Amino acid sequence: MHIDTLERKWLYVALAMVLLFVGAIFYTALSRGIHPPSHVETIDSAALHLSGEFAEDKLGVQRELLADGSVQVRLVAGRYGFYPREIEIPAGKQIRFRLASMDVLHGMHIPMTNMSTMVVPGFVSEITTLFPKPGEYPLLCNEYCGLGHDHMWSKVTVVAQEYWRAPTSTTGGARP
Ligand code: CUA
Repeated sequence: MHIDTLERKWLYVALAMVLLFVGAIFYTALSRGIHPPSHVETIDSAALHLSGEFAEDKLGVQRELLADGSVQVRLVAGRYGFYPREIEIPAGKQIRFRLASMDVLHGMHIPMTNMSTMVVPGFVSEITTLFPKPGEYPLLCNEYCGLGHDHMWSKVTVVAQEYWRAPTSTTGGARP
């Protein structure tokens, strides 16, 4: 089959681009910890608040650390906010977020970190991250979810490990 020289050149260019993009995916996955949610877990979005792990009194930073020493945080996304609205977590420690939507599709994004996941109603989104430095980080919704989408955000405060204490009770958004 005859392939024009110019055409052949562009074939190589296209092939090189594909290899570059696949390479970028592997690079970010291996070195930056960026990857899609690893497992599929379903949940009844309409009954989130009634019982189980996403009941109102079980949200927020969890008092008990996980077996591997990481801190678990449970959040509910709903129009238009993440609940609880503010959380405080330690720097330099693995943080495992578990999220569920109570209504429509939302996103969860913390700029400059590997935190970016969809929160699909009916599914639990789980993502693990680590904040190297203390500071205040916005937690934003990055999937259009309605008129209030632009205002859907919460505040994550990261404090140095020595100043952080596990909450004495699970906060549920309102601290005593
Ligand atoms: Cu929630 Cu956009």
